[in-house]
This record gives sequence, C-alpha cells and structure tokens, in this order.
Amino acid sequence: MVRIPSNIQDLVSYKPGKPVAQIVEELGLKEWAVLWNNENNLGPSPKALSEIQKALSLSHLYPDPSAEKLCSLIAQDNDCTLDHVTVDNGSESVFDCMLRALFEPGDELLTCEGTFVAVYIWAKANNVHCEKIPLAEGYQFDIDQLIASVGPKTKAIYVANPNNPTGAMIRRSELERLVQSVPEEVIVIVDEAYFEYAKALSNEYPDSFQMRRPNVITLRTFSKAHGIAGIRVGYALGPKPLIESIRKVRMTFAPSHLSQAAAVGAIQDAEHVQKTVVVNREALRQFYAALEQAGLNYTASFGNFVMVDLGTEEAAKQFAETLLHKGLFIRHLRAFGLPHCVRISTGTEDENALLVRSLESL
Ligand SMILES: Cc1ncc(COP(=O)(O)O)c(C=O)c1O
Repeated sequence: MVRIPSNIQDLVSYKPGKPVAQIVEELGLKEWAVLWNNENNLGPSPKALSEIQKALSLSHLYPDPSAEKLCSLIAQDNDCTLDHVTVDNGSESVFDCMLRALFEPGDELLTCEGTFVAVYIWAKANNVHCEKIPLAEGYQFDIDQLIASVGPKTKAIYVANPNNPTGAMIRRSELERLVQSVPEEVIVIVDEAYFEYAKALSNEYPDSFQMRRPNVITLRTFSKAHGIAGIRVGYALGPKPLIESIRKVRMTFAPSHLSQAAAVGAIQDAEHVQKTVVVNREALRQFYAALEQAGLNYTASFGNFVMVDLGTEEAAKQFAETLLHKGLFIRHLRAFGLPHCVRISTGTEDENALLVRSLESL
C-alpha cells in the first residue's frame, strides 16, 4: 500500500458547506447577504473586467512567465524596481512558495494562535513546524512574546496586519519594534491582505515594505479591495535575494494570462478601491453602533470585517444560526481556534443595512 506522509494524513480535507443557493431555498429567504469570506461585495474592478475582455483573444498563448507588465505597475506603486516583486495565484500561493524556497528541514515558523488558518495548513503541508503563541489582550498579536519566542530553529515570523479574523492592527511603532528586535537571519513575513482598507482607516497603519529591511517580506493581494478574489492574484514585495528565491519555485506560468490582465486593470482602478474603502468605513461605523446597541463585544477592525466575541461557543453558534435565519451568512470561528467568536464581513450598502436591521431585531 502506498504510504501517505504523516503530515498530509494529519491535514483535514477542505469540506465546503452547503451552497448559498441551497440554504436560501431551504430557509425560504426573501433577502440575504453573504458576509462570510471577507470578499468585496461591491464586485470586481470594472477596469479588471475590461482588461480581461481585451486579453481573451490571446488565450491560446502561454502567459508572460515574468508577468512583467503587472510587476512593473506594482513596482511603480511601491517605489521599487522589478527585483523586489513577485506575483502568483493569490498571496496564499506566494506564501507556499516562500515555505518551499526558504525553509530547510528543522526550520520553524513562529506566529500566534487565532490568525489566518491557511498559514497553519501550508506550514504543515510543507513539513514546517508552526510554533503558535497565544494572542495578547484585545486579540492583538503579542509582539513582546513573539520577540521572546525566537529560538535557534526560528526561520520566520508570520504576522497578518491587520489580522484575519480578529481585525486587530499592529501599529507602526510596534511593527518597527518587532522588526528591529529579531535577528537579521529571521524573516518577518507581514501579510497585508487588507492593506488598502487599513491605510484608509488609520494613520498609524505601517507599510512594512517601506521599512526596506533585508529580512522583511510583505504579502498583498488583489482578492480584497480590488474585488477579484475569484481570479487569484497576489504578490510579495521584499529584498532581492528573497524574492529571487521565491520566484525560482513558483509555477512557470502563474498567474494565468487572464489573471495578469485583470490585475493590470485592477491596480489602475483607484476609483474602485476608493469607493470600496469609503463604503467599508461607513459599514464598520454602522456595525459598531448596532453591536453596541445590542450589547455585544467586538474588536475594532482595520479590515473589511468585524469579529464579535459572544463569550461561549454555544452562544457564538446560536448567534450565527439566528442571523442565518434572517438571511445573513456570517462565519463562526471555530476553525480559526476562536470558537466563542464570529466574523462578519462588510458588504454593499443594502447588505450592511440588512445586518443592522437584524441586529436591532435581536
Ligand atoms: C490575512 C489573509 N491573507 C491572505 C488571504 C488570501 O489571499 P489570496 O486570495 O491572495 O490568496 C486572506 C484571505 O482571506 C487573508 O485573510
């Protein structure tokens, strides 16, 4: 019998839940809002769609393996040269390449509990031990403990800023302290999937790439504010030797021709991003007010979602179930290691209004 490696045996296969359409029918919902994946419900950037249209007729050709046009635009936006940029099928793919390119047997990844679950999964899939320390007060990354926990096996520290699912932000001074306190041979991976939202919400939000450190890698994505999660484009910014190594292990033709075209359109669509962050800011304001009114605890968020702490797993499950019957698809955070919490993404103005009405009626 073929032996399956134990790290792969330990992974749990992804089990998709029932499709939204089926739940809508079963519950007889008249109105509903899908607020469980931190997507941009305003839709894809119109410029992305128009670039895809233009690119369709060249679909018989392999894509540009260096994604030069897209990488040039990313480099331009971040005031760097092409040597500092690599793109892939979503930032999750870049992260996976990073584990394969930069970790040797025995190297460990250090992070906190209660962060983006894919990090734990890709570490395990690559046989990288993930050392997890608890989150600090207020569901913040524990910067002091992360610094104190760096050991001889630590190859990299992963932080998400802002963090998914908690929404908490690492302020500029804190991130600088982390980066300056760890040895230069330890990589600091800063996942900025919600960069555009956070920048619009706080002056204290740090752009980790602009720290220009030899051991910092910044991850970003077009899946969130640009609204093309289904098209799968993400990227990393960082020092030349690290970026070069990540590029060596990526699939030759990733992202696809149409994906590169979409991201080229999306990155030039400042209007769509601006509209998105404005709707998001107002949504968060409304959500906070409604949650306070309902006497519920939440963590201030710097992304396009809010985490609500219901106190117990039972209460969190019940809360998600009650909202589902009102047409709101939200995420219970058991799989994120926060079983007493739920996460609610922001949506369109109408969807946000439905959430507020539902909270008021609880
Ligand atoms: C912190 C964080 N990083 C990365 C991702 C995934 O990004 P991508 O779609 O580019 O793989 C997500 C998606 O939810 C996320 O929350």
